[in-house]
Amino acid sequence: MRRIYPHRHLLGIEGLTRPEIVALLDAAESLFDVSRRSVRKVPTLRGKTVVNLFYEPSTRTRTSFELAGKRLSADVINISVSTSSAVKGESLLDTVQNLQAMQPDVLVIRHSASGAPHHIAERTRAAVVNAGDGTHEHPTQALLDAFTIRRAKGRLEGLEVAICGDIVHSRVARSNAHLLTTMGARVRFAGPRTLLPVAGESLGATIYDRIEPALEGADVVMMLRVQRERLSGSFLPSTREYSRTFGLNPARLALAKPDAIVMHPGPMNRGVEIDPRVADGQQSVILDQVEAGVAVRMAVLWVLAAEANEFSATGEPRPAV
Ligand code: CP
Repeated sequence: MRRIYPHRHLLGIEGLTRPEIVALLDAAESLFDVSRRSVRKVPTLRGKTVVNLFYEPSTRTRTSFELAGKRLSADVINISVSTSSAVKGESLLDTVQNLQAMQPDVLVIRHSASGAPHHIAERTRAAVVNAGDGTHEHPTQALLDAFTIRRAKGRLEGLEVAICGDIVHSRVARSNAHLLTTMGARVRFAGPRTLLPVAGESLGATIYDRIEPALEGADVVMMLRVQRERLSGSFLPSTREYSRTFGLNPARLALAKPDAIVMHPGPMNRGVEIDPRVADGQQSVILDQVEAGVAVRMAVLWVLAAEANEFSATGEPRPAV
């Protein structure tokens, strides 16, 4: 049987083909309703073990990977670095080798160092999922964003997507640019000059140093968090000035198409990059993104951990072809 996702790991969106992305989104679609049933569990990954290893804080990604694994009947272990032996100085590689000795099937890792999941993937037998590495990639975020857009708009191809804010530090922007351009959408990056990629690293996006022209006629407006933890004082004059020049408020949103959707990966800085009237408004799909995150992560765990994908995503046996 041909595998719908032929890779051992999910380390990034860069390099995935259009059919591979569509297969992951379709698998997520088939799993979406599991979370809306009264019994939110299918037997698909019974007997498999998923370890979540998070070296950076997370609410959405960590919780949804845990729920995704549990809803597929996998055993899920969460390791919070603040209560692990990392605080005693154990290295990432030693930690992973010790976890490997306990025979996990999937290792989900978030780390502040770009490339950390790739480093681990070369040194473990488990499938590795990148849950966000430094400023590099956040592939499951891009997949859940694409899933949300596809549900709202019916397609990805041909859409105009404005991604606004701190582009240069954003792994979300990078993964989304790779995915959306692969799927035939057009991406616009907008941000202050100090937070835009340098020439040659635009990832196929059109670059704007003002938000208004990037919003004009957009089908999708994706606001990014101002990442205070990755910013030194020289990048921004002040959050108040940032809000005045780059914050998404109702007047600015009116520049986009009337049926444009508003997205944000979270956590939001309300009143900085996004006005609460927009975040909580009719066009916001921010909580839809969160719901999509569970289905997408179920799909990712399924394609990586199920035996040659021989079951349908919901665990129904299907004939070998
Ligand atoms: N979008 C996202 O990665 O959120 P968390 O940091 O809460 O996981």
